[in-house]
Amino acid sequence: MNIILLGPPGAGKGTQARMLVERDGMVQLSTGDMLRAAVAAGTEVGQKAKAVMEAGELVSDDIVIGVVSERLDAPDVSQGVIFDGFPRTAAQAEALDGLLAEKGLTLDAVVSMEVDDELLVDRVSGRYTCAGCGEGYHDRHKKPTAEGVCDKCGGTEFKRRPDDNAETVRARLGAYHAETAPLIAYYQQAGKLKSVDGMAEIDDVFAQIRKAMGLG
Ligand code: AP5
Ligand code: ZN
Repeated sequence: MNIILLGPPGAGKGTQARMLVERDGMVQLSTGDMLRAAVAAGTEVGQKAKAVMEAGELVSDDIVIGVVSERLDAPDVSQGVIFDGFPRTAAQAEALDGLLAEKGLTLDAVVSMEVDDELLVDRVSGRYTCAGCGEGYHDRHKKPTAEGVCDKCGGTEFKRRPDDNAETVRARLGAYHAETAPLIAYYQQAGKLKSVDGMAEIDDVFAQIRKAMGLG
């Protein structure tokens, strides 16, 4: 089964994708993670993407489609793919249709995760992760122990994404509304769209998604 998690920055796409990987053995294809890895490695793609990502704008369709096309050639794709943060524009959605057809894959469902903008700014601008194990924390909602220790791995180093500040989050939300939200109608017309309440508790959202996929 191949699905798209469609939603604004901070909707919980990454959180839910990781849970599906753990529970259902699917593969997470996060263009954000892939681009951040390219930036960290200093590849040509990373050099082109760095400033665009830090400004909260969208990386060009050509670059992103190229990265996804290459990833879809890996053998683990047969476990089922969760597209997280892709497609984000009409051109990307059309390119994905073509890539899936070319590689003999189908798109089973598009899950739209609905969350109000103000809640998103709070979720994303307060977010940070443990540098050791990747566990997610938040300035107000979920802190490490009083001694500043990660309760999962015991690590004491934490990191924050350079684009997770209130100003850049608003730019990312602007890009979402202008470029990505129209894909909801695109997939509705294709008969693939399922909507879930992304403001519910994390486990509840997970149950809604698995139900939408016919798993729960
Ligand atoms: P990307 O990495 O895709 O970022 P994003 O879409 O902005 O998404 P986030 O990772 O911020 O949020 P999320 O929905 O995964 O939420 P999360 O689970 O972390 O993209 C970054 C940049 O890369 C883009 O701006 C662009 O420049 C570029 N890019 C990437 N893909 C591209 C593409 N296809 N085309 C062009 N450019 C591209 O959750 C957020 C927080 O909320 C966490 O703290 C979490 O613990 C908490 N949380 C989650 N769910 C809940 C809940 N139900 N209740 C309470 N808290 C919750
Ligand atoms: Zn940790």
